[in-house]
Amino acid sequence: MQDQADGLRRMTGKNSTTKPSRKTKTIVVTSGKGGVGKSNFSLNFSLALRQMGFQVGILDADLGLANLDVLMGVTAPYNITHLISGQKTLKEIILKCPGGVFLIPGGSGIVSALIDERKLRVLLESLPVLDEYFDYLIIDTGAGINKQVLSFALAAEEVVVVTTPDPTSLADAFNIIKVIHRGSADLPIGVVVNQADSTRHGEEVFSKLHKVSRNFLEKDLYLIGIIPFDTTVSKAVRAQVPLLLYEKNAKSSLAIKRAASDYLMQGNLKASIPGKEAGGLKSLLGKMARMLR
Ligand SMILES: Nc1ncnc2c1ncn2[C@@H]1O[C@H](COP(=O)(O)OP(=O)(O)OP(=O)(O)O)[C@@H](O)[C@H]1O
Ligand SMILES: [Mg+2]
Repeated sequence: MQDQADGLRRMTGKNSTTKPSRKTKTIVVTSGKGGVGKSNFSLNFSLALRQMGFQVGILDADLGLANLDVLMGVTAPYNITHLISGQKTLKEIILKCPGGVFLIPGGSGIVSALIDERKLRVLLESLPVLDEYFDYLIIDTGAGINKQVLSFALAAEEVVVVTTPDPTSLADAFNIIKVIHRGSADLPIGVVVNQADSTRHGEEVFSKLHKVSRNFLEKDLYLIGIIPFDTTVSKAVRAQVPLLLYEKNAKSSLAIKRAASDYLMQGNLKASIPGKEAGGLKSLLGKMARMLR
């Protein structure tokens, strides 16, 4: 463990002897419908936070179809499967990526049913070593509600639900919000409206979702940001360069950077809820371990 901590210290340049260690804030990015832009949002929101001076890790928790390495144009020699099987340590699988963020690569082609609870626990038990090095850990999940996504979401400090203005995406977003809310009523839930035609349209979409959530769940949602439909996103995907590095002034890039700075200004959604368990990766682990018991 000491070796692993030393390696991370060198990689992040964070020195726990000179700086008070901070707990990592865990943010789970999820959606009801697939293909709405979670992975691109996770990646570029992480880069935006990094550009504002934070140390950020991204966990590719889409265990069946992990693709953040592809979006970043990096080759991940090892991934979560090597960690779970005990062949590699977290330090050995973690990758420093363009733009200065750190990726914990997921394993593509894993049949998610094969990730049983014991294996998931192995992954989780290795995470707390990151606590003093990362300010944020963004967890990109697969679409839809399954036990793994739900346990990640319920254990995190914040959840971001990505939706498009498409009515089916919105209906699925509400369904996942409902399930998360049932599991943890206090958990702050933020919303990203992606692929919006205009800011006004995005705001209308958010306010519709917020209204339904207030009426049926008495749950407030937070608007993280509205990201316009922008062909630059798919161009960046094809170039395998993260959008923010591909074209920093594209309208979608500017919207994501604005979302990150608004997020920080708002004090990270509702940061501290009285009586809520302290944050950090040890806390994530503890909560997930209880859920998996
Ligand atoms: N703001 C946007 N404007 C235009 N196209 C976009 C935008 N965001 C995402 N896309 C398109 O949607 C595709 C899917 O995005 P992404 O892989 O981020 O979705 P996802 O929600 O992570 O998908 P999955 O559910 O499969 O994990 C991208 O390859 C891109 O072509
Ligand atoms: Mg994805």
